[in-house]
Amino acid sequence: MSRLTHPSSIEALAPFRRLRACHTADPADIAGELPGWLRGEVVRTCPAVFDAPGWHARHWFDGLGMVYAFRIGEGRVHFQSRLLESEAARDAWQGKARLGSFGTPTARPWWQRLVEPVPRITDNNNVNITRIGPDLVAMTEGNRQLIIDDATLAAEGPVRYAGDALHGAIMTAHPHLDAARNTVVNVATSFGMHGTISVYEHAPAARRREVIGSWQTAHVPYVHTFGLTPDSAILVAHPYAVKPAKLLWSSQGYIDHFDWHPEEGTRLVVIERATGAVREHVTKPFFAFHTINAFERGDETVLDLLAYPDAGIVEALRIDRMLAGLPDLRPTLLRIVMRQGVERAGVEKLGDVGFEFPSTNYKRVNGHPYRYAYGAANWPGPDHAYASAVVKVDVDSGRSSAFSDELYVFGEPLFVARPHGEGEDDGALLSVGSARDDESSVLAVIDARTMAAVARATVPSAIPLGFHGSFVH
Ligand SMILES: [Fe+2]
Repeated sequence: MSRLTHPSSIEALAPFRRLRACHTADPADIAGELPGWLRGEVVRTCPAVFDAPGWHARHWFDGLGMVYAFRIGEGRVHFQSRLLESEAARDAWQGKARLGSFGTPTARPWWQRLVEPVPRITDNNNVNITRIGPDLVAMTEGNRQLIIDDATLAAEGPVRYAGDALHGAIMTAHPHLDAARNTVVNVATSFGMHGTISVYEHAPAARRREVIGSWQTAHVPYVHTFGLTPDSAILVAHPYAVKPAKLLWSSQGYIDHFDWHPEEGTRLVVIERATGAVREHVTKPFFAFHTINAFERGDETVLDLLAYPDAGIVEALRIDRMLAGLPDLRPTLLRIVMRQGVERAGVEKLGDVGFEFPSTNYKRVNGHPYRYAYGAANWPGPDHAYASAVVKVDVDSGRSSAFSDELYVFGEPLFVARPHGEGEDDGALLSVGSARDDESSVLAVIDARTMAAVARATVPSAIPLGFHGSFVH
């Protein structure tokens, strides 16, 4: 397995190679047999462009976005991709950096910083894409989600939320859909003298956000995901935090203002959805991007998540660090148990493997006790290869199984339940793999029960490893 010895840009480095052109409805080569019931589209985002004349992303999360789709049906798969049309991309191609982004400095003249102490936030929505009511919506951590046209993947413009208390707040790119109540639930961070982290809800087709509870803090944590049960939303307030005043008049990237304060421990903030009541728990310090699932158990709230010992992973995903060595994306699966009336939360390690980009049989188990978590494990292997596996963990027994293919580095596996399926794992995992050695990519269709691939759809396009997406019907 080869790797360039001294690449000058991450775009030269598998599995982050950039697609050279946008593709429209290319048929994929199919090996194996696609399940007859599997019809729909895998729609995903990824950071794809890291360098333009006069502009360079400094962090993986700041690569200009691409949207792509594998459209599955009638025993065939067609691939389509398109660079995300955003103000951030137009700026970058003109060598400008006016918008605040994750870990890349802005280039704003001093007078502009004076009159606008905090830059407008990027609309480079490269983190996730999901259907919210009538719209396919691309998201990042920001305040300008973009509506994507289903057929062309073109950006049609921002989602227009009604003027409300959350105007300008930073929404996560990981909203929950509470199917039982037919409501979208998300979390948004606002900065003032303090930080306010609000949980809001709206009907999928509505664009009026109702705050159902909020938590104020002087030391504002970086929030990437949250847990949701029928009763509560659970925020992970790890001690990777910022005092709001640090964000003023700065030219640094958003995350460059955050510091690690392990002495504070990690706080878990449980917000009751019915009343907005807040209770806090604390445990040992850890950092997490992703929660997996949460549920209530008697007087306990349980939250499963993927934890790193500290926030060093944020630094490991800077471009210069990744060019020197690719990151180990194998955080530990932890179960956090929060008992009412007891401030200290219990922590238990689940499973024998670490992984990122988690998924579950979401519609069936989210917010409820469950058995199976899935994800992608990527880590620096021997001989400079980037090792990769799609994993399945039985959270009851801790046992795991895995799928891998030495040709590809895999990303987030999306679970698609078989219609009228029996068990929790009766369905397929759809995971996109980027080739290590050539300019091809694959959509692997993996039987979630056995973790064996039943079909592979290969396209002659180097899809950069990305973050999240959805299976839409
Ligand atoms: Fe994420």
